[in-house]
Amino acid sequence: MKAMVHDSYGPPEVLRLDDVAPPIPGDREVLVRVHAAGVNWADYSILTGVPYMIRLGFGLRRPKNGIRGTDISGRVEAIGSKVTHFKEDEEVFGWCKGAFAEYVAAPEAQLVAKPAAISHEQAAAVPMAGMVALQAMRDVGDVQPGQRVLIVGASGGIGTMAVQIAKEMGAEVTGVCSTDNVELVQSIGADHIIDYTTHDFTEMGEQYDLILDIADTHSLSERRGVLTPSGVLIPNSGEGGPLAGSLGRIIAARLLSPFVSQKLHPFLSTFKREDLIALRELIESGQLDPVVGGTFPLADTADALDLVGRRHSRGKTVITV
Ligand SMILES: NC(=O)c1ccc[n+]([C@@H]2O[C@H](COP(=O)([O-])OP(=O)(O)OC[C@H]3O[C@@H](n4cnc5c(N)ncnc54)[C@H](OP(=O)(O)O)[C@@H]3O)[C@@H](O)[C@H]2O)c1
Repeated sequence: MKAMVHDSYGPPEVLRLDDVAPPIPGDREVLVRVHAAGVNWADYSILTGVPYMIRLGFGLRRPKNGIRGTDISGRVEAIGSKVTHFKEDEEVFGWCKGAFAEYVAAPEAQLVAKPAAISHEQAAAVPMAGMVALQAMRDVGDVQPGQRVLIVGASGGIGTMAVQIAKEMGAEVTGVCSTDNVELVQSIGADHIIDYTTHDFTEMGEQYDLILDIADTHSLSERRGVLTPSGVLIPNSGEGGPLAGSLGRIIAARLLSPFVSQKLHPFLSTFKREDLIALRELIESGQLDPVVGGTFPLADTADALDLVGRRHSRGKTVITV
């Protein structure tokens, strides 16, 4: 099968389109013919091997597994002997290892039936970004109807999901993005938009019950200044120094949180099948419409990763296979 492979850490140019053996599904695995694969910041970060700390998990000198990508939508090609949820030819979406390829073998527990109403490209946009947005709004933020929610980075992969999920939970939502994306953020339901190229959300005299900050360009104290006394801040950017990324900021927020009335809560989302089902239900009920900003053929995966690495994606960037 064709796959995008890298043997060393480096910029997207280290990727090459290669012929590799297709995976053989285990007893509880499903072989999926990939139709679309979502591109995440994590894929870019592991590709480049920066921050260096991640190499502890992915290979010290070179990547242990040379095919990136986790989020897929596709069609079941074959099933392992103990698979009970799926049958051949069914359309599924979910997460796996090595998504930038024609086939993947994924545990059945990591897949659910794809919503019929959306395309494979839209379905592939959901797993990681949707999981972060849902868990941030529901589990960390515990958003209540009428609360004021600020999403900084509202036009990107996670932001476009978070705006819609917060609206569905009854919040009054403000989205922060650049001028080009104001209409997009309006179109997905944000009540107010702040264009960060002309206005600074920390200087507008507003207060929020929850801030999900994907850009993390302001200090903790600046952001605490626009949180209500019992408000929650989720600093979400993984960007930072070359050694440990955002770890320093995460530790600072965690250390300060017990001493202030507000909750400063960086978090790591966890893949849960029941949350993927919850996201599918939001899609099926029309409350979540995944935004795909750009699609790239498999052979152009390097261009897609380059775009994601620049951190100004419009909705999700997706590979079509
Ligand atoms: N907590 C977790 O478990 C978890 C999981 C996955 C990812 N993440 C983190 O999430 C981040 C990626 O999020 P994503 O996939 O949504 O990124 P994305 O699709 O690249 O979107 C980035 C967004 O940030 C906005 N932005 C860029 N500069 C900004 C600024 N100065 N002020 C305000 N907004 C700005 C962009 O808007 P414009 O294009 O309009 O500039 C865009 O909307 C990474 O840092 C990653 O580490 C966290």
